[in-house]
Amino acid sequence: MLAALIHDCGVSSANRFTDLVAFECTEPDDHCIVGNAYLQGVPMLTRYADLVRHHHLTWYEGPPEDCAPGWTRLAANLIYLADRLDVLLTVTGARPVIQEAEGLVAILSGHAGTLFAPAHIDALRLATRDDTFWTGLAREPLQAWLDEELSHIPDTAMSARDLFPVAHLFARIVDAKSTFTAQHSLGVAALGQYLAEALNLSTGQRDGITLAGLLHDIGKLGIPDDILDKPTALTAVEWRTMQTHASMTEQLVGTMLGDHPIVSWAAAHHETPCGDGYPLGLSGEQLSIEMRIIAAADVFQALAQERPYRPAVPLERILDQMSVLAAANRLDARVVSIFQRDPLAAWECAVNPMVRVTPATGCRSTERRPEMAMTVSA
Ligand SMILES: [Fe+2]
Ligand SMILES: [Fe+2]
Ligand SMILES: [Fe+2]
Repeated sequence: MLAALIHDCGVSSANRFTDLVAFECTEPDDHCIVGNAYLQGVPMLTRYADLVRHHHLTWYEGPPEDCAPGWTRLAANLIYLADRLDVLLTVTGARPVIQEAEGLVAILSGHAGTLFAPAHIDALRLATRDDTFWTGLAREPLQAWLDEELSHIPDTAMSARDLFPVAHLFARIVDAKSTFTAQHSLGVAALGQYLAEALNLSTGQRDGITLAGLLHDIGKLGIPDDILDKPTALTAVEWRTMQTHASMTEQLVGTMLGDHPIVSWAAAHHETPCGDGYPLGLSGEQLSIEMRIIAAADVFQALAQERPYRPAVPLERILDQMSVLAAANRLDARVVSIFQRDPLAAWECAVNPMVRVTPATGCRSTERRPEMAMTVSA
């Protein structure tokens, strides 16, 4: 079940996803390879990497040499069958119309022994005789079933460091949603860590800021690609839609970390000291130093990167713009002053973050740091 939940982690662009929603898509390999590579970097998910790699493997193709035979082949092919059924439901818009059920099962059965393992088709025929199979595919019962299944996984006490591999995975998925945001979350995490070190914050704060940087834009997964990649000014409605990513970040990170302060550090990255930011319009003392660091790192990294509506901004002009924002009380002046001390070091964090932030350690140093405990909900 867990492998099926993350089987398409290698594709976050809606445009690419649209290509895959064709019953016999011709070039599925790239997202399988990317998903496999992502999961290889996350120790707690590595066991699912082979299944993700082979979830478009047809039954007659058999296992390639690098694919473990037996269970992996069967399980990957089962995910493939479920995936294709979902594609048929999406394409026909049939969900959850029971009148379509027979026809859908007939289409899939026609591929027994070629695309799908015969035993899987037998199981599908058996399961789909019961109408509750189809009614259970509607959004609400499906979510309820999933919540029930996940509730059996016990909450786990983890440190920020323990979460770096998973947060790194999420950051890569978010950053891959648009070519213009490649490495943005990683860059914000690296810059945040750099600023926290320069300001002599505690090790717990540094690790938490790194985690918040990795996760700060996770809410963008819910924003349409055509808004994220729009080369011209957004309309008022599009801008409102874009702004919702901050509160979606709060919801998603909150699902993982409960009421841990890191949730608000991530969600407040568009708030400003003067109070004209979003989503809450926080100001002054409502903004912690951690929030101010993430906000400044976010602006610096975004300016250092090409956007659909402008090229990357040269370092000197980034420093000028950061100073203007600090003077207007829209960024924290003390945090911005750190960029002026060693601009090239900050630039390096922004454009080459993997040197500093890795999935294994989350930070440049391999020394063991005191950890900040939190409880992670399944
Ligand atoms: Fe897929
Ligand atoms: Fe953002
Ligand atoms: Fe951002």
